[in-house]
Amino acid sequence: MSAGFVLEKSKIRQSFSAACASYDAVAELQRTVGRDLLGRIETDRLAGTVLDIGCGTGFLTAELLSWPGAKLMLALDLALPMLQITRGKLADAGNVWYLCADAEALPVADHAVDHVFSNLALQWCEDLELVFNDIRRILKPGCQLIFSTFGPRTLRELKSAWAEVDDYSHVNEFYSQEQHGCFLERAGFHRIRTESQLHRPTYDSVQDLMKELKHIGAHNVTAGRNRRITTKTQMQGMIAAYEAFRNGGRIPASFEVIMITARA
Ligand SMILES: C[S@@+](CC[C@H](N)C(=O)[O-])C[C@H]1O[C@@H](n2cnc3c(N)ncnc32)[C@H](O)[C@@H]1O
Repeated sequence: MSAGFVLEKSKIRQSFSAACASYDAVAELQRTVGRDLLGRIETDRLAGTVLDIGCGTGFLTAELLSWPGAKLMLALDLALPMLQITRGKLADAGNVWYLCADAEALPVADHAVDHVFSNLALQWCEDLELVFNDIRRILKPGCQLIFSTFGPRTLRELKSAWAEVDDYSHVNEFYSQEQHGCFLERAGFHRIRTESQLHRPTYDSVQDLMKELKHIGAHNVTAGRNRRITTKTQMQGMIAAYEAFRNGGRIPASFEVIMITARA
């Protein structure tokens, strides 16, 4: 891992807290991937205590709750305003606990959980081996972890456009499918199945893509980012370089989604 890939947790919390009100309006990809994730489990196998890590505004939490087997739902997120929105949406459900906590230090007892889910949240964790070790600690033996995350091809056009402008890190770094498999194996998981898919939504302009990323809360939080305000000239340089990817009149953006299931 390069020095520039150190993630700043306080900045992550701040970005998602600030995006809590705009998130739902732009989280189309997150909902598509979340539905795909849910399609991978048999409804009748869901039982007992279910944890949703990085629940955000509660899309996946609500879906999981609607299934008959979930007796207790734990909704966990680093950003309190995100969690408050989830709590507002699920106000009528009595069997939900809300945990404002870090996925890298889960405040849950050993072998207390039957299923761990996470939709497009674990890419915000730097030490995945630690995260997977902790998830295995809280899962009952043989129980399942199911999650989606982003892979290294994510925002490759944006990364390459910025590389034309300067040497700073402008896009977060993401672990590969293979690296995820290794971290899980080292943490003691078995029956690990990984799959990668490329999603490539298109936009009218580079500015529209940037706006969407901001409203999702997905800011560059690498320690190697440029801490000075981006100048108009730098931004124009990046946009001009990105225009080279325009295809059929539209600006594409790649999102590599990695889907993983594994047993404790
Ligand atoms: C892109 S959102 C996904 C939200 C939700 N899972 C969904 O499908 O809509 C990522 C969420 O992960 C949370 N998050 C980021 N880092 C985290 C961490 N270390 N521990 C817990 N939650 C974290 C953010 O606050 C944010 O709400």
